[in-house]
Amino acid sequence: MDLSRIASATRRPVPFEKAEFSLWTEPYVASRMLEAHLDPNTDAASRRPSTILKTVGWIEERIPAGSKILDLGCGPGLYCEVYALHGHRVTGIDFSENSIRYARGHAALRGLGIEYLVGDYLDSDLGNGFDLATMIYCDMGTLGDGDRDRVLGAARMALRSGGLLVFDVFGESLARDRKEGRTWSWCPGNGFWTAEPHLVFDETFHFEREMAFCDQHLVVTETGERLYRSWDRYYTKDGIVRFLEKAGFGEVSITENLVDGSDFTPDGALFVTARRGS
Ligand SMILES: C[S@@+](CC[C@H](N)C(=O)[O-])C[C@H]1O[C@@H](n2cnc3c(N)ncnc32)[C@H](O)[C@@H]1O
Repeated sequence: MDLSRIASATRRPVPFEKAEFSLWTEPYVASRMLEAHLDPNTDAASRRPSTILKTVGWIEERIPAGSKILDLGCGPGLYCEVYALHGHRVTGIDFSENSIRYARGHAALRGLGIEYLVGDYLDSDLGNGFDLATMIYCDMGTLGDGDRDRVLGAARMALRSGGLLVFDVFGESLARDRKEGRTWSWCPGNGFWTAEPHLVFDETFHFEREMAFCDQHLVVTETGERLYRSWDRYYTKDGIVRFLEKAGFGEVSITENLVDGSDFTPDGALFVTARRGS
């Protein structure tokens, strides 16, 4: 075991530093993530089916029938399928091949003509002329300023003039609800992170100036170690309006308490809608 590697991997990251592995695309973890997405009894990875239906209903009050919809980070297509069943034309993009394989198979079983793309929404051709672009379950808040502005630019290009962008982010209550801390655990095998026996070192860091938390997980097996990180930013309402206006969106509206508290994330997701300027 290379202890110097473990010492350096467990250090405090610099803000929005990415890890070598992504919990959405590393094949073993991605398969566990898919199980979490599809479990109707937990809000892990995706919110529960009743919350998804409520969210889609709220979004549909803001778009015309038969809209052309782009879902950024669509996962296994839980929202895409509801839009398609309601008569919208849907494209979903996600960089998890595992989730898109599932989404394509499930849509085919149900006879739904959804277009699914495997790709990184930061650098993929997303098409254009969409009435609506969505990014649901606080994914916008996982991005540093540069990547956030990039995805906003890409969404803007994909939307028609006047098209609607919808996403959710954590508000300031996250700073109260989440705490710094560290823990470790032993797993004899077939765990969330790997099938091998392993140790996991978990640590949560708070970056007050950047208004962000980082959850860092170092997974150590007999054969090596893997580091995963996920970031969650929290925003003031003014901060949201500022970054949207800078990216060419207007008519910003922010809704609190659309969804109930979750068994996986703290309360306080803000649902944001904004329109692409001409
Ligand atoms: C929290 S999950 C939410 C999935 C889905 N929106 C839902 O609520 O059911 C975030 C999703 O975004 C995807 N994702 C994260 N970063 C991405 C990127 N840069 N490009 C494409 N997909 C990404 C992940 O693979 C994952 O499916």
